[in-house]
Amino acid sequence: MNANLQPGGAVAAEPRAGAPRRGAAPGGRDPWREKREAAAARQPSVLTGDVLYLQQVTVSFDGFKALDDLTLHVDPGELLCVIGPNGAGKTTMMDVVTGKTRPDAGRVFFGNMTNLLTMSEPEIAQAGIGRKFQKPTVFDFLTVFENLELALAGEKSFWRTFFARLTPRDRERIDEVLETTGLAAKRDTPAGTLAHGQKQWLEIGMLLMQEPKVLLVDEPVAGMTPQETERTGELLLSLAGRHSVVVVEHDMEFVRSIARRVAVLHEGRVLAEGGMDAVQSDPRVIEVYLGA
Ligand SMILES: Nc1ncnc2c1ncn2[C@@H]1O[C@H](COP(=O)(O)OP(=O)(O)OP(=O)(O)O)[C@@H](O)[C@H]1O
Ligand SMILES: [Mg+2]
Repeated sequence: MNANLQPGGAVAAEPRAGAPRRGAAPGGRDPWREKREAAAARQPSVLTGDVLYLQQVTVSFDGFKALDDLTLHVDPGELLCVIGPNGAGKTTMMDVVTGKTRPDAGRVFFGNMTNLLTMSEPEIAQAGIGRKFQKPTVFDFLTVFENLELALAGEKSFWRTFFARLTPRDRERIDEVLETTGLAAKRDTPAGTLAHGQKQWLEIGMLLMQEPKVLLVDEPVAGMTPQETERTGELLLSLAGRHSVVVVEHDMEFVRSIARRVAVLHEGRVLAEGGMDAVQSDPRVIEVYLGA
């Protein structure tokens, strides 16, 4: 299937016209290499075990297997990119991890001890798995700061949060996230007036307020300008180490710029896994995804 075919007609796999080349610079210099290596260096030892482990997971919709015996792991602090053709099961995999979809078979573990299949969606979020949806869920009429303040509350109600006083530690946390997301200058701006990219970063910031161990991000750069895409890559790389980050994306140039390990999904299972160069030159991957 053609990697360019996206729901809603968005085109992502080809480098955008006029986009600065990321990943593979002329002459073989890779300007992103340093950033990827810095992110990997912040990764804790893999001896601490997987942070997320899906074992032989199958999900059927009316007999059609969206996930078919899928086994996949995520290491602590790693940034894992998941690619694959439309319908490969990438979003379904995230739905299973977050508890939105229950598999017919298989096991899903968070750390060594936590069986996610026995937990509700809110419990899974509470345990430290944050998910960013494509459509931002920020409150347009609140400022950037207020949106982050609200996200800090988590379970607490909207009004209780608004009348509660922020502790100095809370303010520090919000300031940290404003810095991380590059939104410090926008702290008092209503979220409704932010550019598309800035809204997406605010949404990531809101997830960060809950200090998740794992962040799942589905097609983060869809609809972004080349500059926003680049900034998003830097942001996600800066999160690796402190968080495990799983990124699903069709934009191969973007994936190349940030990925250390890539898993290629096809027909509900992992077709290939490894470094970007290895998977991009894998004949099976070329046939089902990249070659079209
Ligand atoms: N709730 C559902 N009911 C029926 N079929 C579904 C449902 N959710 C997903 N599917 C099907 O499962 C398959 C996998 O879908 P999924 O959304 O996980 O693919 P994807 O890899 O995320 O694709 P894309 O790159 O287009 O986002 C598709 O064939 C899809 O039509
Ligand atoms: Mg999807």
